[in-house]
Amino acid sequence: MNRDFSSSSQIDSFFENKKRILVTGGAGFIGGCLIRRLLSNPNLHVFNLDKCGYASDLSSIYSHQAKGRHRLLNVDLFNTEETNAALNEADPDIVFHLAAESHVDRSIDNPRNFIESNITGTFNLLEAIRNFWDNLPENRKDSFRILHISTDEVFGSLEDSGSFNENTPYNPSSPYAASKAASDHIVRAWNCTYGIPSIITNCSNNFGPWQFPEKLIPLVILKALSNQEIPLYGDGKNIRDWLFVEDHIDALLIAVSKGDIGQSYCVGGNGERKNEDVVNSICSLLDVKAPRDQSYASLIKLVNDRPAHDYRYAINSRKISNKLGWQPKHSFDSALSLTVDWYLNHLDWCKDISKKSDYFGGRIGLMQSS
Ligand SMILES: NC(=O)c1ccc[n+]([C@@H]2O[C@H](COP(=O)([O-])OP(=O)(O)OC[C@H]3O[C@@H](n4cnc5c(N)ncnc54)[C@H](O)[C@@H]3O)[C@@H](O)[C@H]2O)c1
Repeated sequence: MNRDFSSSSQIDSFFENKKRILVTGGAGFIGGCLIRRLLSNPNLHVFNLDKCGYASDLSSIYSHQAKGRHRLLNVDLFNTEETNAALNEADPDIVFHLAAESHVDRSIDNPRNFIESNITGTFNLLEAIRNFWDNLPENRKDSFRILHISTDEVFGSLEDSGSFNENTPYNPSSPYAASKAASDHIVRAWNCTYGIPSIITNCSNNFGPWQFPEKLIPLVILKALSNQEIPLYGDGKNIRDWLFVEDHIDALLIAVSKGDIGQSYCVGGNGERKNEDVVNSICSLLDVKAPRDQSYASLIKLVNDRPAHDYRYAINSRKISNKLGWQPKHSFDSALSLTVDWYLNHLDWCKDISKKSDYFGGRIGLMQSS
């Protein structure tokens, strides 16, 4: 599943004089995928700033290649001094900012972590960048970029029709979405006020290999394979727009190299699905790939809904598609099949990371008091 760095000469030439890349959150699911892609370009050196939390894992990077061009900076963005020092050590030409607490259910149980990492962490990073960037020589200053990776959840919930675009007002419902919304505003304000050359992407739900097993798709695969009830929140009718993670990485590379400073780009997969349909598709794939007596669908059980569960997300990706030429390359169905295969072949990794993080698929995010 290793991909070439890019299929665009414009992206390749953008990175020609930008060899030092800082990725925050590179020990996570999307950051790891981005780093593997960056390392496939032999000219790039990647500095991976990550606090190495419960969802972090470096085996995807270490088993890949190019260890010598990857350096872990084990830093919590909440810590100002460490963040400043990391910036100076990385001395980056480009920053991809992905570090964030990322699971809505955890944000319901423990919102403070989200405020500290996603809001204060982004503020600390932006301030460290401001110090660093102010002191760069003019040529490096001009070509420096920070890409802030955000989510469609900042826009809140849609009814049955319509879709989010770059002009949709922010209307977050969960502590996670609120903290990401605040981080987007900080990034935008540091561009307007201090001139920090930033670009923002707001992406829909990602899936693919190496995703921590608390998120819907790996959770369902692992519950099914261990013959446990497969929980479906509420009536199962909530809708998400799914994007294969490699297609998201394509969008990030295009946005950073061709995007306009100060702009944001909505990124979606044209993959709108009801949660019940996603879960049923996984069960059907497993029925073929790992058959058992009864269909895995018999394990599906409706459970209490998530508090403030957004009904529907859908993305209008016209801006990044028309202006920058990005298109998702994978259909939802083919990428889901590929993802199920990956989990079937990496059950040991799933066991190891569950053990390391002490997370075994239990329900979270129902508010302890209720
Ligand atoms: N997963 C999705 O569907 C999705 C969709 C759109 C946008 N995003 C955004 O993409 C980014 C990455 O998401 P992911 O799914 O890979 O998440 P993830 O939870 O798998 O990884 C996040 C990483 O960030 C690190 N991190 C968190 N707080 C930190 C801090 N204070 N200092 C340093 N490191 C810290 C964690 O240790 C972890 O390794 C996030 O910003 C998320 O909001 C995710």
